[in-house]
Amino acid sequence: MTQVRSEPIQSVLGGRRAVVASSPDLSEVPERPEGRRHILDLDDFSPAEILGVMQNADVMKEVLHRDIKKVPTLRGKTVITLFYEASTRTRVSFEQAGKILSADVINVAGDGSSVEKGESLHNTALTLQAMNADIIVIRHPHSGAPHFLARNLDSCVINAGDGQHAHPTQALLDLYTIQSHRGQIDGLKVVIVGDILYSRVARSNLWGLTKMGAQVVLCAPPTLIPPDFLNSSRQVEGHPFASVQIETNVERALEGADVVMALRLQLERQRAGRLPTLREYSRMYGITPKRLELAKPEVLVMHPGPMNEGIEIDPEVAHGARSVIEEQVTNGVAIRMALLYTVLTPRRGGSFPLP
Ligand code: CP
Repeated sequence: MTQVRSEPIQSVLGGRRAVVASSPDLSEVPERPEGRRHILDLDDFSPAEILGVMQNADVMKEVLHRDIKKVPTLRGKTVITLFYEASTRTRVSFEQAGKILSADVINVAGDGSSVEKGESLHNTALTLQAMNADIIVIRHPHSGAPHFLARNLDSCVINAGDGQHAHPTQALLDLYTIQSHRGQIDGLKVVIVGDILYSRVARSNLWGLTKMGAQVVLCAPPTLIPPDFLNSSRQVEGHPFASVQIETNVERALEGADVVMALRLQLERQRAGRLPTLREYSRMYGITPKRLELAKPEVLVMHPGPMNEGIEIDPEVAHGARSVIEEQVTNGVAIRMALLYTVLTPRRGGSFPLP
């Protein structure tokens, strides 16, 4: 089992206090006597806990700017990344995060491992646990795979993307990027444009953004919007997504937006008959410089990557002055450092005691 660590994060990192993007009131951060041992989605995060992760990411980001990017925080801990699907940003940033914190990081891919010989997920994970993995970071094409591991292993489990279900670390880095620029998320109009139906990024962001008080607008052709959002099933008191707006016209959606998040159009959707042609999608929904003028002048343009430039986003927008897409990648390292720290500090997980 992982060792309980209770030092304040500042002393653990041996650094000076970083300037946080805003001044969240951490007095409301709940103690979690049972600790947060797994990060599976954002549905069970409180707003205060999300703020706590962001505040810790601020501290971690300061380490990223040092000449020597190495602190002993997780020395002696083993992080195994287990990726059954392709990834650049998430896998590399977890590896970098673990190494900066001095953990031993071992990368296992489905290809080239005994998965190719038919080994089950359960047996693969038990094998990795038997090697004393403290954390298993898993990406899997099947929704629920990380939850299965969390139920069956002693190791901490972090969901790095499961099927169409959730991508909580992506959503946290997206929230952190918005918070860093705007100082708050509450009240901002955040427009998510694209393949909502199949997007785990959109699902986790829906939890995170609504919990933090954003006014979320989902924009897509009706065939790429979850049926639950098209019918009236959300219109019941207390539904977590009751305030989310649906808009099939991108110009209307973008009016007055504070943040525009374009999603990757998964090219197989056209083959599945959900889109007439990619060209038509691009013409109707692509984020172009002209469309962006409908948003607020200080709008932030985001994309989780990888991008299909020229389809869901114009290259001029993707690399333009309003784009924070590369910053999202850097923030991803800081957020994942904060999350590795969180799950290995079970008694303090989520409470982030800054002096
Ligand atoms: N955003 C994201 O998950 O990117 P990767 O697939 O490259 O990890």
